[in-house]
Amino acid sequence: MVNRHITRSIVISIIIFTANYYPAIAIEIDRLIPVEDYTPSSECGQCHRQVYSEWRGSIHNSSHLDIIYQADLGRMVKAEGVAAKRICVACHAPLAALAGLDGYAEEKSLPLEARLGIGCDFCHTIDGNFKDGGIVYDFFPGETKYGPSQNLSDAPHPVKYSAFQNSSEYCALCHDTDHILAGENYGGTYTQWKYSKYNRVDSVTTCQDCHMSFDLISSGPRADSIEHSNHYFTAANTAYPGLIGTPVHNSIAVESLRRAANIKVAGIKEIGSGEEYIFWVTVHNKGAGHLLPTGLPGLRQIWLSIRILDSNTRELLYSNGEVDSLGVVDTASCFIGADYVDANGEVTDKVWEAAGVINDNRIPPGETSRFKYSYKIPEDYKGEMVIFAMLNYRSAKQDFINEIFNETPDDMAVVQMDYYIHKGIKVR
Ligand code: HEC
Ligand code: HEC
Ligand code: HEC
Ligand code: HEC
Ligand code: HEC
Repeated sequence: MVNRHITRSIVISIIIFTANYYPAIAIEIDRLIPVEDYTPSSECGQCHRQVYSEWRGSIHNSSHLDIIYQADLGRMVKAEGVAAKRICVACHAPLAALAGLDGYAEEKSLPLEARLGIGCDFCHTIDGNFKDGGIVYDFFPGETKYGPSQNLSDAPHPVKYSAFQNSSEYCALCHDTDHILAGENYGGTYTQWKYSKYNRVDSVTTCQDCHMSFDLISSGPRADSIEHSNHYFTAANTAYPGLIGTPVHNSIAVESLRRAANIKVAGIKEIGSGEEYIFWVTVHNKGAGHLLPTGLPGLRQIWLSIRILDSNTRELLYSNGEVDSLGVVDTASCFIGADYVDANGEVTDKVWEAAGVINDNRIPPGETSRFKYSYKIPEDYKGEMVIFAMLNYRSAKQDFINEIFNETPDDMAVVQMDYYIHKGIKVR
C-alpha cells in the first residue's frame, strides 16, 4: 500500500485552500489519488447494511448533489468562472479534489462516486495526528479500513483502530470553515466547539458523541462500548422536505433542533392600560456543542415570534416575527445569527465573497441571550393578556432561496424549536 504521508506536498485545491486560510490544518499527500482507488459505498453497503441505509439518505451522500448547494455553485460559476469550483469541491466532493478533477466544467464528467459527495471509503481511510499545534490529515485508500473499535477480529477486510476517528479534529477537516476566501479563519463549527464547555481537560464531548451516538443526539459522553454509531449525519437541515434525505432524516433534524434550545418569557403580572408593557425573552443554548446557529452565517435563520392575545376573547393584540405570504420573515423580529461581509465590509450571502462576519449574536454553548420587547397597551384596553413566544429555525432565508432558484420556489420549511406561554397578565 502506498503511504501517502508527508513527503512532498502536491498542490491540490484542498492544500491551497487550507494552507492559505487555515494554517492549523495541513493535508499531506504525495500524489493525486485517482477516484478508482476508493471503493464505491454501495459495495460496503452489501455487508454494513444498517450504516449504509442511514448514510444513503444523509447530506454527506449528496453534499455535491444537494440542490441548494448546486444552485449556489451555479451562481458562483456565472460570476467567477468554472475554475472557481475547486474552492467548493474541496469539502463538498473530496474525491474530485484529491484526484485533481476540481476545476471541471460539466458535472457529468465527474465519476459517480466523486459526484455524490462524501462516501464510506473516503472517511474510513483517513487518519490524522497533531503536529506543531496543528492537525495533519493522511489519506490511505486501500484494503485497510480505519474505525473506532479496538481489537476487532471478525472483519473480512483488514481493520485498524484509529483514535482519530473518534475525535472532533476528524470532523474539523471540513467543519471548520465559514466558507471564507479572504482574511482570517474567524471560527467555524469546530473552533466554536474547541473553545466551549464541551472540550474540557477532564471531560470531552466530541462531535461524534452528539451526532453519531446511538440515541442520536445525547448531551453527555457515551458509554464506553460503541455498539453502533449512527450515520444519519443530520442535525438541522430540513430544507425542502422530501428533496433531501428521508422522512427519518427529516425527523432527526427536527428532534435535534428541539433539543438544542429552550426559551422563557419574563414580565410583571399587573399593569395599567395605556402603559408600556416590558417583557424579556431568554434563549438558552442547552444542547448544541457550538454556536447556535452554527453552519453558514447569512443562510441559517433563527428568530423569535411573539403573539400577545386577550386571554378571554383570543383577540390578537400584538404580533411580531411572523412569516408573510411570500415566505419572508418580519424584518422587525429578533433574529439570532450572523451575516457574512465581503472585503468592502458589505453584507453578502455569496459564500465565496465572504471576508468576515458581522451582526453576530449567535449563542455559545451553555449560554443564554435576552431579548427585550415593549408593547404599548391601548388606552381603552382592560382585561387579561397572554404571551405566546416561539423560537423558529430554517436552514436558509427565503430571499436567498428566491435568488438562487430562477423559478418560484417553495417556501423553506420552518421548524419550531421551542415555545413558552406567559399567562395571566392583568391589565387594570
Ligand atoms: C463523514 C465520514 C464518514 C462517512 C461518510 C462514513 N463513516 Fe463510518 N464512521 C465514521 C466515524 C467518525 C465513525 C466513528 C464514530 C464514533 O466514534 O462513534 C464511524 C463508524 C463506523 C463503523 C463502526 C461502528 C458501527 O457503527 O458499526 C462502521 C462499521 C462504519 N463506520 C462503516 C461505514 C460505512 C459502511 C459507511 C458508508 C455507508 C460509512 N461508515 C460512512 C465516519 C464516517
Ligand atoms: C464482506 C462484508 C464486508 C464488506 C464488503 C465491507 N465490510 Fe467493513 N466490516 C465487515 C465486518 C463483518 C466487520 C467487523 C465489525 C462489524 O461487524 O462492524 C467490518 C468492520 C469494518 C470497520 C471497523 C469498524 C470498527 O468498529 O472499528 C470499518 C471502518 C469498516 N468495516 C468499513 C468498511 C468500508 C468503508 C467498506 C467498503 C469499502 C467495508 N467495510 C466493506 C464486513 C464488511
Ligand atoms: C470531507 C468533508 C467532511 C467531513 C470529513 C465531515 N463532513 Fe459533515 N458535512 C460536510 C458537508 C460539505 C456538509 C453539507 C453538505 C450540504 O449541506 O450540501 C456536511 C453536513 C453535515 C451534517 C448535516 C448538517 C445539517 O444541517 O443537518 C452533519 C450533522 C455533519 N456534517 C456532521 C459531521 C460529523 C459529526 C463529522 C465527523 C465525524 C463530519 N460531518 C465530517 C462535509 C464533511
Ligand atoms: C453537545 C452536543 C453537540 C456537540 C458536541 C456538537 N453538536 Fe453539532 N449540533 C448539536 C445540536 C443539538 C444541533 C442542532 C442545533 C443547531 O443547528 O445548532 C447541532 C447542529 C449541527 C450542524 C447543523 C447546523 C446547521 O444549521 O446546518 C452541524 C453541521 C453540526 N452540528 C456539526 C457538528 C460538529 C462538526 C461538531 C464537532 C466539532 C459538533 N456538531 C458538536 C449538538 C452538538
Ligand atoms: C472547508 C469545507 C467547505 C468548503 C471549501 C465549502 N463548503 Fe459549503 N459547506 C460545508 C459544510 C461543512 C456545510 C454544512 C454547514 C452546516 O450545515 O453547518 C456546507 C454547506 C453549504 C451550503 C448549504 C447547503 C444547504 O443545503 O443548506 C451551501 C449553499 C454551500 N455550502 C456552498 C458552498 C460553495 C458555493 C462553496 C465554494 C465557494 C463551498 N460551499 C465551499 C463545507 C465547505
